[in-house]
Amino acid sequence: MNLEHIKEEYQRLIKEVSDEKSLYDLKVKFLGKKGSLTEIMKGAKDLSPEERPAFGKAVNEIKAYINKHIEETKDELIKKEVEAKLVSEEIDVTLPAKEVELGGMNPLNKVIEEIEELFIKLGYSVAEGPEVETDKFNFEMLNLPKDHPARDMQDSFYITNELLMRTQTSPVQAREMLKTEGEGPIKIICPGKVFRRDNDDATHSHQFTQIEGLVVDKNIKFSDLKGTLEYLIKSVFGQDRQIRLRPSFFPFTEPSVEVDISWGQDGEGNTKWLEILGAGMVHPKVLEMAGFDPEIYSGFAFGMGPERIAMLKYGISDIRSFYTNDVRFLQQFSSDRND
Ligand code: DAH
Repeated sequence: MNLEHIKEEYQRLIKEVSDEKSLYDLKVKFLGKKGSLTEIMKGAKDLSPEERPAFGKAVNEIKAYINKHIEETKDELIKKEVEAKLVSEEIDVTLPAKEVELGGMNPLNKVIEEIEELFIKLGYSVAEGPEVETDKFNFEMLNLPKDHPARDMQDSFYITNELLMRTQTSPVQAREMLKTEGEGPIKIICPGKVFRRDNDDATHSHQFTQIEGLVVDKNIKFSDLKGTLEYLIKSVFGQDRQIRLRPSFFPFTEPSVEVDISWGQDGEGNTKWLEILGAGMVHPKVLEMAGFDPEIYSGFAFGMGPERIAMLKYGISDIRSFYTNDVRFLQQFSSDRND
């Protein structure tokens, strides 16, 4: 094969190249170690010394030509590939966007926030305390000395003899009273998690929430407590609701009451009542232990379970629904619904 033929063959074959792989193969075929141009170069030794330089020059020119042409072809192939990709992956920005699935606010948090708002309007502030609590604050400062039988009502998760997961939000009362060093007034609500050893089922959970309320000042009377509870219940459940107070017992309040809310009527037209929270006048001993003079100061306290309130308000039958984050459950409470 002579040089002219090689060039012609290259020009014929390059037309068939359609991708980088076949281009590379073509390069090897002409310029590789066993390529046509390398082979033909070997024939130079049979030429006369006068003929050699011209021959070498001619071979190098074709080599340079093929090299350059291959590089250019490669650039073109890449460009074509990119263009094809751009066409195949084109994004139509005018298409409607994928809908983002919205959940909803957990009804438990909704109720807690609603109650916080109601009390903030009355000038209360929101206080918090630790979830890992000392025996002293969880029980003793609330007039529940060691071995007090009422401790049995609250099966506790103890960490050490003196440390436990708080069983109620009431310890925040004592903590806040101590902070003011015997000086009123105090008006707080304390929402938070509490823990009890319970077997979980539709109405029990080993972890749930409570909202505690505490008012301490001069001249706080039982009627103040009653008015506050009425405001709370009517605001949350509707103005047509009534409340009923029944005598009860809590170690940290005296007198203590359980508060019922009116809930429709039975078959004979009698009002039905559902228990909704516990409350009372702060026990003089609790005031005293927290540095308040019970001769000068008095107060009321109340404690409620937002789960129970949310279950009644929204007709939720299983307490576990609050904690399992099922989007279908939460969507029912999304903000675009009126409830
Ligand atoms: N801590 C009580 C409980 O967990 C609830 C409670 C009742 C809190 C009466 C109070 C109160 O502050 O006055 O059962």
